[in-house]
Amino acid sequence: MKKLANKVALVSGGSRGIGAAIVRRLAADGAKVAFTYSRSAEKADAIVAEINAAGGSAIAISADSSIAADIINSVNKTVAEFGGLDILVNNAGIYIGKDFPEHTIEEYDQVMDVNVKAVFVAALEAVKHLKAGGRIITIGSNMAENAIGPQTTLYTMSKSALQGFTRGLARDLGPKGIAVTLVQPGPTNTDMNPDNTEQADYARSRMALAEYGTAEDVAGLVSFLAGDEGRQITGSWVTIDGGFNA
Ligand SMILES: NC(=O)c1ccc[n+]([C@@H]2O[C@H](COP(=O)([O-])OP(=O)(O)OC[C@H]3O[C@@H](n4cnc5c(N)ncnc54)[C@H](OP(=O)(O)O)[C@@H]3O)[C@@H](O)[C@H]2O)c1
Repeated sequence: MKKLANKVALVSGGSRGIGAAIVRRLAADGAKVAFTYSRSAEKADAIVAEINAAGGSAIAISADSSIAADIINSVNKTVAEFGGLDILVNNAGIYIGKDFPEHTIEEYDQVMDVNVKAVFVAALEAVKHLKAGGRIITIGSNMAENAIGPQTTLYTMSKSALQGFTRGLARDLGPKGIAVTLVQPGPTNTDMNPDNTEQADYARSRMALAEYGTAEDVAGLVSFLAGDEGRQITGSWVTIDGGFNA
């Protein structure tokens, strides 16, 4: 029997990058997987078709993480389609990098809505359905502990908030047997952070392993935390950054 057989997962931002790898990995582990997307409808449909053709179960839900009603709807659709919810993965995130004086208050709202508020809203709705053994896994960033340089204030601020969220919520949900964790990737080759730029060369120069991670590396860690072997990990984070923060 596959390790996540009979489990239902919801992944935000599953159409591309790290989220797409998490969707594929949890489906390969046997979970029924719902995931959200905001703009990449064609990519989302292709992932659903791929998973269903391989004998798995997946659905894609159009939901903008900056809109609370969309997030609530995504939880409810998942439960309606698959009969429950066991694993919530908050993955959707955005980065706006600018010299600090150039930032606008609207950009603050954009980044905080998707990177922080959406995580809070999704958890608030998910706890109505999660049972003992449930998981809330959020994708933060190694930058919560190491702002790599200028133009990172807003993003770093948003990812640091997830550490407090993870600690507090682990205390709140521990009595219900639900584990809450944070995965903090470092440089990972996706549209957000391609591995073939000048900035990537600089990032590699700061990493102990000097090699970008892949979305699949992060998905493997999420799979571990979601499975039975991860059951005792809560209120803490795992940094997966090739030694960037070493
Ligand atoms: N790549 C890295 O080096 C790195 C390092 C540390 C942490 N992270 C974190 O890892 C997570 C995934 O990053 P990534 O590199 O995979 O990014 P990415 O390649 O830009 O993909 C972002 C994903 O999030 C979705 N998304 C963005 N805004 C959304 C919104 N408003 N509503 C719903 N979905 C939305 C996108 O969906 P659509 O295309 O459908 O809009 C896409 O599926 C983020 O939280 C990011 O901060 C990444």
